[in-house]
Amino acid sequence: MIPQSFIQDLLARVDIVDVVGKYVQLKKGGANYMGLCPFHNEKSPSFTVSPTKQFYHCFGCGAHGSSIGFLMEYSGLSYVDAIRDLAQNNGMIVPEEDRLLPAQRAEVQAKSLALSDVMTRASDYYKQQLRGAPQAIAYLKKRGLTGEIAARFGLGFAPDAWDGLRSVFLDYAAPSLVEAGLVIDKTDDDGAHRKRYDRFRDRVMFPIRNTKGQVIAFGGRIMEQGEPKYLNSPETPLFQKGLELYGLFEARQAIREAGYVLVTEGYMDVVALAQMGFPQSVATLGTACTSTHVQKLLRQTDHVVFSFDGDAAGRRAARRALDACLPHINDDKVIKFLFLPAEHDPDSFIREFGADAFDQEVRDAMPLSQFLVREVVGDNDLNSAEGRAKTQFDAKPLLQLMPASGLRLQIVRHLAQLTQTTPAEIETLFDLVQPVARHKLAPPKSRRNAPVGLERQIMRILVAHPSLSAMLDGEVLAAAAVLAPDGAAMLAQLVEFAQEMGESAQFAALADRLRQSGSDFDALIAEVAEQTESELDVVRLELAGAIRQVRLQVLRSELDALVVGGLRDPLAVARYREILQLQEGLRKQAELEAAQR
Ligand code: GTP
Ligand code: MN
Repeated sequence: MIPQSFIQDLLARVDIVDVVGKYVQLKKGGANYMGLCPFHNEKSPSFTVSPTKQFYHCFGCGAHGSSIGFLMEYSGLSYVDAIRDLAQNNGMIVPEEDRLLPAQRAEVQAKSLALSDVMTRASDYYKQQLRGAPQAIAYLKKRGLTGEIAARFGLGFAPDAWDGLRSVFLDYAAPSLVEAGLVIDKTDDDGAHRKRYDRFRDRVMFPIRNTKGQVIAFGGRIMEQGEPKYLNSPETPLFQKGLELYGLFEARQAIREAGYVLVTEGYMDVVALAQMGFPQSVATLGTACTSTHVQKLLRQTDHVVFSFDGDAAGRRAARRALDACLPHINDDKVIKFLFLPAEHDPDSFIREFGADAFDQEVRDAMPLSQFLVREVVGDNDLNSAEGRAKTQFDAKPLLQLMPASGLRLQIVRHLAQLTQTTPAEIETLFDLVQPVARHKLAPPKSRRNAPVGLERQIMRILVAHPSLSAMLDGEVLAAAAVLAPDGAAMLAQLVEFAQEMGESAQFAALADRLRQSGSDFDALIAEVAEQTESELDVVRLELAGAIRQVRLQVLRSELDALVVGGLRDPLAVARYREILQLQEGLRKQAELEAAQR
């Protein structure tokens, strides 16, 4: 759980005009900004962004939301990922581990510090061992690496011994060594004796660093023929394979300078490319490219070139990378695919043909749109109706992964041409008019049993201006419950959320919170998003008026009940007088406020 206070701070710091403006061309029109709605097809703009409300709203399709909501709908991010993304772009750090108690958090931190320390010491040891290992140095030389590049990547050597690490760690039996994945514990059949030994033996060691530069894992390559060729650290609290990219720490500066990142499949590719003048290279760690990888890469640069072998396996890997990229596509990002000749990887290619030839391959890399179309056309025969239909069938899931964008439109146009249809037909066939927007067009549930009258007016004001919730005390809530029992629970929840958010509570943050809580406030939120804004002072008077009306109505019905009862006992008479006075007081207050307007 990300603390609510952090989300409020975040929304207070970002400007939705910038957030949306990255994807939608906006023009100032009055107090708001206008543009073509990215969630449905339109020719004249009905999409508005309000800088005061920090909310977007489309009068055409009804889509609406905050900066967080926009990223979720536009980029298909989860709530938490959208918050992370926004925070990252605004130099804020999302507080993690919030569910843990402070003591637990300290323990988690202490543990990861201890593991990190163990990894650093092991890495230093392997590096030092490399100096005294002529056979390992000869191997690296044979693979064309200089001492300089080996040092840059912190390459090392694990000697051919069962317990080499014993000389590094005073306590070779420490649990942290097994948690770090450096040693393996083997228990006898009878479970009595435990034998511990080094995981990495007689291998060239590639330390894997996180983006902070800390060693979090190792890959070890065998020098002779043998299995496995590469031995990797297991997953540990420090290391999850599907999240990390080899070489990213070392490559960061070069990625900025080159303006793109080159993604390969192997450790050796990264190191060799750096040696040959392409230090902007990284590698996945023997796993398929994941969506997290793509996100990580796109945070560093807006231009990614994937390199794959030209064979069937490379083609399959490329297809998985394509799938991982599609949700993150937008029009200021360039993603390309480079297919090397079947028998080559980047390392062997650049050594055989040289840096210039490789550079030319990078330049000639296939843009994502072209690769996608090539994939979906495949062997389908575009000269037959069946072939064209099959092409559309194959394209559908891919296009559905893409957020609405100029590039998606281009691909739709291209596909329409190839399959003899129109872009509009493709969009309809593929349900591409954003599903989000259509679901908002359907009348929301809350319209049916929505609270009406006074209570609804109060709720609308509170949704728009949650900081005014302090004006509602328990007495008013009780009165409202008498008047309209149906809406009372909804009002109480709204007041609770808004009051929790405090004086700095804003509409956008509250709207997100209500939406996340799953409560049915969508119709009210939409209404607020549509309405023009009034001065807070005016709204405060309006709310005071509505609250007074609630109290007056409750008093009136109590009065009626007393009269019907005949006012026989003195207590009833006393209450009768009291109510008359209360009513009088409320009316006077109303006159005073009317004079203020
Ligand atoms: P070289 O043969 O040294 O040039 O290796 P490479 O970098 O070209 O690697 P290759 O294309 O054979 O494999 C790509 C990546 O897959 C490696 O960098 C490793 O991360 C991983 N990998 C390769 N072989 C193995 C293996 O036997 N076991 C495991 N776990 N991973 C492997
Ligand atoms: Mn290789």
